[in-house]
Amino acid sequence: MQHIDKVSNILSDRITALAEPQTIAMAKKARELAAQGHDVISLSFGEPDFQTPQYIKDAAKKAIDDGFTFYTPVPGYPELRQAIADKFKRDNNLDYKPENIVVSTGAKQSIANAVMCLVNPGDEVIIFSPYWVSYEEIVKLAEGTPVQVMGKLENDFKVTPAQLEAAITSNTKLIMYSSPCNPTGSVFTEEELLALAKVLEKYPQIHVIADEIYEYINFEGQHASMAGFDFIKDRVVTVNGFSKGYAMTGWRVGYIAAHKTIAAACEKMQSQITSGTCSIAQKAAYAALQGGKEAALEMREAYLRRRNLVLELMNDIPGFKTNVPEGAFYIFPDVSHYFGMSYEGNTIQNALDLCMFLLTDALVAVVSGEAFGAPNCVRFSYATSDEKLTEALRRIKLSLAKLQ
Ligand SMILES: Cc1ncc(COP(=O)(O)O)c(C=O)c1O
Repeated sequence: MQHIDKVSNILSDRITALAEPQTIAMAKKARELAAQGHDVISLSFGEPDFQTPQYIKDAAKKAIDDGFTFYTPVPGYPELRQAIADKFKRDNNLDYKPENIVVSTGAKQSIANAVMCLVNPGDEVIIFSPYWVSYEEIVKLAEGTPVQVMGKLENDFKVTPAQLEAAITSNTKLIMYSSPCNPTGSVFTEEELLALAKVLEKYPQIHVIADEIYEYINFEGQHASMAGFDFIKDRVVTVNGFSKGYAMTGWRVGYIAAHKTIAAACEKMQSQITSGTCSIAQKAAYAALQGGKEAALEMREAYLRRRNLVLELMNDIPGFKTNVPEGAFYIFPDVSHYFGMSYEGNTIQNALDLCMFLLTDALVAVVSGEAFGAPNCVRFSYATSDEKLTEALRRIKLSLAKLQ
């Protein structure tokens, strides 16, 4: 201990340079205020408020009683990998074998595995922005260079083929995006993905991480996958998991489907860092898939109702500019209207200041868009009850009216 106190640079450059996710930092502050007795409403979590469906919990209890308490194969139990391959056929019309599937400790580890296996130091990784918080930091950990390409609010925050093409250089190795998107709720249509894939067709060195973790929370149309286009399929790593669709965030089960060379590399990476994910959670995930999509679709109905409620309430707040999110459970208004305004001598300079103001004045926790590469925006999660959403938006409206 004394030794550590004396040596100031004990930690590696790698960890010193790593940002703490702002989503977690905000949640921490909100918890502190709540612990002091304040009635804080948190709209900062990226997590369903639903319990995991009972049939999935039952399968986990049975797995314990049946003795599934040992190490599992690193890429997951064979029957789970087969069930995931069957899911890809059923839902996405994609042909994969178990050898193409690697199950990991959440989609977050799936993404980290894939980035570590594809990116060399100095490789450029195009990240469609606004993006999920961890993409950029994972790329930096792999010593890649993140290149943000910003989708415009007027275009539903979606990056266009022309923007993609303009960002490609001879160093580009990978592109990453989520659809449905965290934080914007935007969903790429099949035509839009095809137009992007056509650009990539010309650059055989570029791979894609398509993060489809919100697949089942899609309010319009059919979910589309970049891997659905045969001419690019081998270069696409499709990421998915159980956290969002099946309300299983704590169970930590995610997966990829990829060309077998990439899948084998991810298995090797995982074998040295974590091994196979929890045996009991894998059995629960298997049961989730056997039960089909019904539970997920029921939750989707609730999210759709809440999205409409939040849109309606936000329409009533002057200065919030939003798109209409078509999936996931977030809304991402541009709040720059309030920059430069003040309350009790404090000026709101940016989205982070606005979030702090909303937390202390309205007792509502939301996350600044800076964390997602969009410093004019703020992310609201509507994965909470209609009552809480209504109360939160009422308080926010009152607080914002104090700004001058
Ligand atoms: C876009 C996106 N990808 C991946 C993840 C990570 O999911 P998991 O809980 O399976 O690690 C999240 C979680 O918030 C997410 O929003």
